[in-house]
Amino acid sequence: MKRNNLILIGFMGCGKTTVGKCLAEDLGYCFLDTDELIEAEQNKKISDIFEKEGEEAFRRMETELLERLVKEADKTVIATGGGMPVKEENRMLLKKAGIVCFLETEPETVLQRLKQDTVRPLAAGEDREKRLLDLHKFRKPIYRMVADICVKTDGKDCDDIVRELEERTASERKGGAV
Ligand code: S3P
Repeated sequence: MKRNNLILIGFMGCGKTTVGKCLAEDLGYCFLDTDELIEAEQNKKISDIFEKEGEEAFRRMETELLERLVKEADKTVIATGGGMPVKEENRMLLKKAGIVCFLETEPETVLQRLKQDTVRPLAAGEDREKRLLDLHKFRKPIYRMVADICVKTDGKDCDDIVRELEERTASERKGGAV
């Protein structure tokens, strides 16, 4: 199990990418975002992959990418797509890839942040609020189950969250326990 990577998980809009970039910069780690990598490698937007190839195809791409990251990532902060921990296979891979940090955000905050979203296929269409709330409720215990640490993000700014993540992972990054 690798301890020199930090894996950020959590619902859409919880701040994985924003926090991940600051965290990586502060620690002198590399930064990777699984959504961005998939889009770059496929040369397609995630919304197009969902539309033309289906969600299952996207989920397969996520697993394949994670398998590679387990082998290759080193001193890296990895921001993952919000659905990554849902497959059991991915949960095993996430655990192998690094210290799994759940950014926990209240559903109301998520809804507010995703209100104007035009990019995420799961945040679009009719009934979006109810669907997002149901999905949030379904996934929260999954995120908790796979996480090594859980950081609540509501009411905190990016620097607060980065500091908390650094403090709470410090001993394990240096070879001890979380
Ligand atoms: C998804 C979250 C998105 C992206 C895709 C599916 C999900 O990533 O992977 O749209 O299932 O929650 P973000 O969590 O970075 O928005």
